Amino acid sequence: MREFDEKSITRAVIGRLSECHDPRFKRVMTSLITHLHDFVRDVKLTEDEWLTAIQFLTDVGATCTDKRQEFILLSDTLGVSVLVITLNHPAYRGSAESTVMGPFYWEGAPDLPRGSNLAVGVRGEPAFYSGRVLSADGRPIENALLDIWSGDGDGNYDMQLPQETGMKARGRIRTDAEGRYWFRSIRPTFYPVPTDGPVGRMLRHMGRHPYRPGHIHMIVSAPGHLPVTTHLFVAGSQYLDSDAVFGVKESLVAQFDRHAAGVGPDGERIDTSFYTVNYDFRLRAAQS
Ligand code: BEZ
Ligand code: FE
Repeated sequence: MREFDEKSITRAVIGRLSECHDPRFKRVMTSLITHLHDFVRDVKLTEDEWLTAIQFLTDVGATCTDKRQEFILLSDTLGVSVLVITLNHPAYRGSAESTVMGPFYWEGAPDLPRGSNLAVGVRGEPAFYSGRVLSADGRPIENALLDIWSGDGDGNYDMQLPQETGMKARGRIRTDAEGRYWFRSIRPTFYPVPTDGPVGRMLRHMGRHPYRPGHIHMIVSAPGHLPVTTHLFVAGSQYLDSDAVFGVKESLVAQFDRHAAGVGPDGERIDTSFYTVNYDFRLRAAQS
């Protein structure tokens, strides 16, 4: 057939996959074409809207650099990233849940001894983090690695601050023989995802705010176990119920207990109030 109507066009495009010998790609493309055509028919897309969409995607691409990934931000803000993560990392026997990676991971953070202050010279209220890394059946995992990063107390990551050239509020900490970890950093605060590009325009047009609730990021890994890219969210933080990237999981919300100025858990005097938070991560065995 040469000529297509608004229904037969879908079958025709899918039919052109008959010589595709990659079964997974064929399945994905068939579904994509089906849903895309259904969407266009459903909203009866106008030519102006089609052009606006093309221009929008062009702008998203043009905004990407080696330091900025606007397509991932688009995926994050449309809930696609969390959907993919949730499908690929289903909850398993109380093991730590995964959430979005975000754009501010910086590989090669320094290996620091347990108890280190990751946030030397970083603005923010001091917070002492501690807990254990355990297997799904509750056995402590020695030498598990926590690769940690967060913004400062104003919600800015080191990469976003023009005056910062090096890493800040980042570090890699390993657990002891009892699976315990502890370190000092700051209590993170809420902050907006980048809004100066096309995704920011889209959010404004949708009537949405761009904020994420306060959280600290970590990748927790150990030999023989599946690594988890996750966050700890600050209980009570603004935007927990409306995270701009839908990354909140109830199991990742941690209590930050406030203490008056005095001696911190590390035995050092602190002149300001500070927080403590305790959280255990359970890792799923690689063969389970
Ligand atoms: C973040 O938490 O760092 C983040 C996640 C997704 C989009 C933007 C920022
Ligand atoms: Fe973040």
